[in-house]
Amino acid sequence: MSMWSKNVSWSADGELSIAGISATALAAQFGTPLFVLDEDDFRSNARRFKDAFEGAFGVGKVSVYYAGKAFLSASVVQWLEADGLNLDVCTGGELAVAQLAKFPAARIEFHGNNKSVAEIEQALDYGVECIAVDSFFEIDRVERAAAARGIIQKVIIRTTPGIEAHTHEFIATAHEDVKFGFSIASGAALEAARLVRSATHLDLQGLHAHIGSQIFDTDGYELAAKRIIALLATIRDESNAELPLLDLGGGFGIAYLAGESALDPVEVAKKMHAVIASACEVHGLRVPHISIEPGRAIVGPSMATLYEVGTTKSIVLDDGGSRAYIAVDGGMSDNIRPALYDAEYTVALANRRSTAAVQPSRVVGKHCESGDIIIKNVDLPSDIAPGDLLVTPVTGAYGRSMASNYNHISRPPVVAVALGKARIIVRRETHEDLLRLENMEG
Ligand code: LLP
Repeated sequence: MSMWSKNVSWSADGELSIAGISATALAAQFGTPLFVLDEDDFRSNARRFKDAFEGAFGVGKVSVYYAGKAFLSASVVQWLEADGLNLDVCTGGELAVAQLAKFPAARIEFHGNNKSVAEIEQALDYGVECIAVDSFFEIDRVERAAAARGIIQKVIIRTTPGIEAHTHEFIATAHEDVKFGFSIASGAALEAARLVRSATHLDLQGLHAHIGSQIFDTDGYELAAKRIIALLATIRDESNAELPLLDLGGGFGIAYLAGESALDPVEVAKKMHAVIASACEVHGLRVPHISIEPGRAIVGPSMATLYEVGTTKSIVLDDGGSRAYIAVDGGMSDNIRPALYDAEYTVALANRRSTAAVQPSRVVGKHCESGDIIIKNVDLPSDIAPGDLLVTPVTGAYGRSMASNYNHISRPPVVAVALGKARIIVRRETHEDLLRLENMEG
């Protein structure tokens, strides 16, 4: 899969278009920095996961939950509803977006390692299908909230299967030394299952693990599945009943740079099915209903960021070489991933073709911080000048959703484009939005 979303094209004179709308037109109409979401690409990616997993496990035997943390807006929620996807939320705020878009509660799973009582109550009042409980405290809190409402709440248990996923330390989530979930190895997960089963207002549906993000090696999923299925068997042995659900989380890796390739959902689904089927057979279990929670793999490639160049300069390096610094009108506030995870992106000139020689360049933002770097080392044409547009592809996942107001910058809008039409799905913040939080009284 390429780094560019499905409907990206380049004109003969080097201008980028997305879904038939040119970069110049987008920038002129909506301003920069701008997140451009290729709607068709997002929806195709979502359906690709659904089709791939339904192909491997069977229709009705698998549920795909889009992980809203990667990027959430009411319009996206409406697409998910129309396309038969489910939704994973992990805060009351994400749930509020789902509620705004009237997403069916029966298709929502609620995650999070430290949900507040208010969030639990919000989820129960909306009637979410399932809560992934993450601690003994939470089991107690959900039980109390369910009892107060006279309902029985379905829950799954988030386990840590002890997997050292090969990804950045901060986005690996299933090794023992991590804040998430109940350890399988220590017996905490089994203890949690016993506690949930004995709770009057909880209905234990199954077990969950999310091994991490940006995973390319499917061995991690396979090992996690094996360990969780062994625990499912222990629970069956104790209770004489099989839990109906196994949720293997998200984390499917995608390409950010030329030459990288994404995990193929068809391949992963096939491999997972083979491993799950054989592990279940070993333990004499029926294959449970499977859930997965891809976020990045659906929205990541479908969005690109457009920036306008504001200043450039050239510096002489210690080794006698030179580097161009190209400053754009956004930065770490709309893409914190390079600073936080050393994540690498690529960039291209979006408004014209340049025939100038390329030079070693660094694309930086406008924040008061040297680490405000979007692309550390890239060769770009030496004639890039103020007013040019640059595009960074694959910014859909954890770009806008992790955007901040650092330096009191307004967070960029998200514009969805499809079939030659563009519409704002999240508007640009204004100074008024920022100042609305001020309180000068007293
Ligand atoms: N399910 C659970 C329980 C999760 O914790 C996550 C991600 C996902 C699903 C979705 O994972 P995905 O398919 O998007 O990789 N901010 C980081 C990523 C943190 C992911 C946290 N949990 C980044 O920008 O790389």
